Amino acid sequence: MPHPTIHLHDHTFKILFPYEEILAAIEKMAEKMNQDFETEKPVFLVVLKGAFMFAAELMKAVNRDCDIEFIRVKSYDGMDNSKGIDAGMHQKLNVKGRTVVILEDIVDSGNTLEYLFAELKKMEAKDIRIATLFLKPEAYKKDIPLDYVGLEIPNQFVVGFGLDYDERGRGFKDLYALMDE
Ligand code: IMP
Ligand code: MG
Repeated sequence: MPHPTIHLHDHTFKILFPYEEILAAIEKMAEKMNQDFETEKPVFLVVLKGAFMFAAELMKAVNRDCDIEFIRVKSYDGMDNSKGIDAGMHQKLNVKGRTVVILEDIVDSGNTLEYLFAELKKMEAKDIRIATLFLKPEAYKKDIPLDYVGLEIPNQFVVGFGLDYDERGRGFKDLYALMDE
């Protein structure tokens, strides 16, 4: 059973999605991928740190031949995402001519995605697809199509299932939303 509320640093968060619902959403995404990648071998690109738990769960349910790569991107400082993107693109990442599926924990403004998309284009990826576990539809204003979406959530700050508030809360298996104070 998830905790009704959790406390991280100076804030309280309340349960939004229990693990079972998150898992069901991931299994649906994997089903679609299993259909889409019957013949083609994609590169799954895990965006660290947040997507580690999503990626682990998804990869267990995707039963197609694939490559798995990791990159590190940081856009939030606490709850502030106004400072731009701090990214270390993997120098040895070779995606030329490949279909790449970006695995994101959450799409909020879409800034991170836009940045990654442009970088992968420069690296001459053949096709770039996006898989995000969570989406804040009210916040996302970009034109990049989202190919695989797990769960839509309200425009609130969330933690758990890989997502953090200042490096706290990543390990929770359920998703929690910031409570109004
Ligand atoms: P965007 O660039 O605004 O779309 O934000 C994307 C990144 O910011 C995600 O990959 C997350 O790592 C982080 N992020 C966005 N929203 C949240 C949130 O509600 N809680 C924790 N991290 C978030
Ligand atoms: Mg992220």
